[in-house]
Amino acid sequence: MNQSSVCYYFFILGSHPAISVAEILAYFKTNKFDFSVLAAGYDYLIINTKNQIESNILDFIGGSIKFGKIEKIFQKFPSVEEIYNILPAADKIFFGLSLYPVKVKNKPIKNIFRIGLDLKKYLKEKNRTARLVTSKQENLSAVVVVKNKLLSDNGAEIVIINQQQNYFLGKTLDVQPFVELSKRDYGRPQRDDRSGMLPPKLAQIMLNLSQTDKYELILDPFCGSGTVLQEALWQKRTNLIGSDISDKAISDTRKNLTWLGQEYNLPVNNIKLVKTNVVNLPKFIKPNSVSAVVTEPDLGRADLKPSNQLAEEARLKNLYIQSYEVFYNLLKPKGLVVMIWPVFFNTKYLDIEKTVENIGYKKIIPLSKDLLNNYQLNKRNNLQYARSGQKVAREITIWQKV
Ligand SMILES: C[S@@+](CC[C@H](N)C(=O)[O-])C[C@H]1O[C@@H](n2cnc3c(N)ncnc32)[C@H](O)[C@@H]1O
Repeated sequence: MNQSSVCYYFFILGSHPAISVAEILAYFKTNKFDFSVLAAGYDYLIINTKNQIESNILDFIGGSIKFGKIEKIFQKFPSVEEIYNILPAADKIFFGLSLYPVKVKNKPIKNIFRIGLDLKKYLKEKNRTARLVTSKQENLSAVVVVKNKLLSDNGAEIVIINQQQNYFLGKTLDVQPFVELSKRDYGRPQRDDRSGMLPPKLAQIMLNLSQTDKYELILDPFCGSGTVLQEALWQKRTNLIGSDISDKAISDTRKNLTWLGQEYNLPVNNIKLVKTNVVNLPKFIKPNSVSAVVTEPDLGRADLKPSNQLAEEARLKNLYIQSYEVFYNLLKPKGLVVMIWPVFFNTKYLDIEKTVENIGYKKIIPLSKDLLNNYQLNKRNNLQYARSGQKVAREITIWQKV
């Protein structure tokens, strides 16, 4: 491969691979990267590009676990010598290996532990000292990679990705910033477990799916504790409005944003916060000014008696439809609404798609047809985020004003 111009990069995808891939593609599109997808598998995506990708990209995209550079492509499993050639040159090194996909037809492709031992032996023969980092799981987690200093100058996590006859040999450049993500989730001053909060990484994903640059105006009209605004600030976005019907939500959001601004020296003064019912937003925001609405509204309850459950769904439908009507006038032409809708018991969708279309929106399907062989959308072609045991899953819907 011509390394002087085109570079090959890999992403190891998170727990919801379709969401991770949709986010990566949206991020590249927004940032006007000239790229193409070289290989797509359940837990990885390999792309090539002439653009330089910053090694801290995982600070700003929420859905991927590892990011790295492909050094060489082979037609058979790389030899110990080939792997040796990409290790750091220092006398004393730490290294570990991960192999993707973890299993093919229920069997690992190779015994990665064995390869690690062979490599260690090879290093010893070359009079070099090396510590092999292993883990109980098949592959090294982000935590193991960081705690064992594999991202330092003397360290390396070697990643081998197999797709059909190709073996991509690469090195991890960065992993999901789990400490920072956890701090922005559990370490912020205000949390509201009763109304619910987005995980920060999902807020980042939604912001990236909105395909807006950092200067465009983003609105979260159900801002709750402010997770979307907080992550937007973290992504260095400068043009933000948050609103909510509740005093407590506005006060929590303000406290969380102030905290984030102080912790990381980010400018919060320009963020506008308004206490209002979503239906009254036109009093506060100019028509045709918003580039994207990014929001998780009230998702309702899933623990009611069947008759009350129906009433609950009717209430939500009404709230959502009213919201889309309001957003229509506030949005710029072609503006997007990236909004979570509830999926009760993981299967029961909110039946409002036709109505939203009739208001004047076009539905955006987040993955192209060729990728749908590898990554699954839900039954109505949307992304879906669910954690085990949850009664209400989150459907990530994307609509464009036409
Ligand atoms: C699930 S919470 C949002 C949580 C938020 N995504 C976060 O991560 O912190 C839903 C929010 O919608 C607000 N809300 C409900 N009905 C509303 C309405 N009609 N207008 C504006 N806000 C409303 C609630 O006060 C609540 O704060």
